[in-house]
Amino acid sequence: MTPLQVGVLVSGRGSNLRALQQASSTAAYRVALVVSNVADAGALAFAADVGVPTAVLPHRAYPTRAAFESAVTEALRAAGVELVVLAGFMRVLTPVFVGAWAGRIVNIHPSLLPAFPGLDAPGQALRAGATVSGCTVHLVDEGTDTGPILAQAEVPILPGDTEDTLAARILVEEHRLLPRVVDALARQRRAAA
Ligand code: GRF
Repeated sequence: MTPLQVGVLVSGRGSNLRALQQASSTAAYRVALVVSNVADAGALAFAADVGVPTAVLPHRAYPTRAAFESAVTEALRAAGVELVVLAGFMRVLTPVFVGAWAGRIVNIHPSLLPAFPGLDAPGQALRAGATVSGCTVHLVDEGTDTGPILAQAEVPILPGDTEDTLAARILVEEHRLLPRVVDALARQRRAAA
């Protein structure tokens, strides 16, 4: 079975990319391309270290969001990407990109959606006095963190937690959940083909 070709969009340190890549050797997907809008993202250094192709597309180099997104789509298509994973990608995607990849974009978010969408989800959970949080992998639609939920993992919020301690506890679960969901999607896609 040919592994599902996955394109990972990143802007930062890339710990979820690392988890995806490390799990891929025994999974039904491969990371075919890493796209970053940030030239010095740690994720790019990791990808280079393990020999995964990368594309750096700084969004400011494009006159419009549409032009930036077309460049991303072109790079993904050229690499044969079949599924797009947003792993700490800090740009809002327009309906044009989401439409072009309809049903084929997944995102990982550090809360139990629909609670605490958007930025600083661990901080939002703490400020709301929540006692449980976690992470969500969902399909991306045109809203912010609103698409159909594929899977979630819970973590407790403990007395004395800070945003950093809570985010770190959630991250451990992200690294388990994201590769599992992408592998399951890959198997479904191949079974349906
Ligand atoms: C993660 O917390 C993810 O849930 C959120 O952005 C962060 C990315 O972290 N969307 P990393 O770059 O994968 O380490």
